[in-house]
Amino acid sequence: MSWLPSLKTATPEEGYSLAIKMSRMAVKMTQPDDEIRSKLRADYANNADSLTMASHVVATNFQTVAQANNFWIQ
Ligand code: HEM
Repeated sequence: MSWLPSLKTATPEEGYSLAIKMSRMAVKMTQPDDEIRSKLRADYANNADSLTMASHVVATNFQTVAQANNFWIQ
């Protein structure tokens, strides 16, 4: 099964979770080695700038998801 079958989500909150998933997948595809990601986790988890950058990536993906869902406007 595709990990990204659709950009459509029922609610904005589900859309935000999808944006996080998309962001994490990008990291996973960029660095496929689980061990290296686990090793680097402590670095970014304890660095305010890294966390801000991660939030920015999620915000960018959320824009795409929100547009695909017409901003959940009925
Ligand atoms: C865990 C988001 C970048 C490695 C997590 C979690 C989130 C997250 C939300 C917690 C998941 C949970 O506890 O259920 C992101 C976002 C990123 C990003 C949005 C960037 C756009 C990275 C990078 C690395 C990394 C650059 C390392 C190269 C990990 C690892 C965990 C984790 C290993 C699992 C930690 C554990 O299970 O204790 N990430 N992350 N992430 N992240 Fe990231």
